[in-house]
Amino acid sequence: MNRRQFLGVLGALTWMGLSRRPFGWSLASEAETYPFRLPPLPYPYEALEPHIDARTMQIHHQGHHQTYVQNLNKALEELPQFQSWELERLLSHLSDVPSSHRTTIQNNGGGHWNHSFFWRILSPTPSEPSKALQARLEKVFGSWAAFRAKFLDTAAQLFGSGWVWLVQTPRGDLSIVPTANQDNPLMPHITPQGKPILGIDVWEHAYYLKYQNRRTEYLAAVWQVINWAQVEALLG
Ligand SMILES: [Fe+2]
Repeated sequence: MNRRQFLGVLGALTWMGLSRRPFGWSLASEAETYPFRLPPLPYPYEALEPHIDARTMQIHHQGHHQTYVQNLNKALEELPQFQSWELERLLSHLSDVPSSHRTTIQNNGGGHWNHSFFWRILSPTPSEPSKALQARLEKVFGSWAAFRAKFLDTAAQLFGSGWVWLVQTPRGDLSIVPTANQDNPLMPHITPQGKPILGIDVWEHAYYLKYQNRRTEYLAAVWQVINWAQVEALLG
């Protein structure tokens, strides 16, 4: 191992273990620690029509997301020692949470984080990935079309409920990762663990009202409303 590799590993270990917000992502709301609150949607429920219908967005935000927030707060009511922890810290250090509450925090903390991320990675304003962003992803995946195909195929093939992510590891590597349920790459059992750059919800609740079992149609539609400037900003 040369000096550069050594420093890279050292940096990654420090980043994983010591930082309170190791992935640099914030929900950017006043509700970053207990009690968590449902963040407002950054656009009206109907704004993503015709790609994602207003009724789905409303139920998804006010119903599903709100329930994750409520259940997360309920679990933390009983864990006062974790009430000052930011959500990202909780999710990246799940083994520190007592086993009696770990799955609840994983599922509902994950649900809150994932949906907060998702609302902001979408936009009603059509956008195209910049040349610079395309070039970075082409370098890893061969072409923009290959990146898109791999990302959407991974999402289409995910069995059951979950998410698909573009993840940046502490060493800067990029990969496409599916996760089950409300897991995400902040969590230590996900390989690779890293910073989410792009994520798409592939739970049926994200599309069933409009697309029923046609998940690939939903995926093609949601791709039309990705906020590429946000993706590029996260990639840094
Ligand atoms: Fe969802």
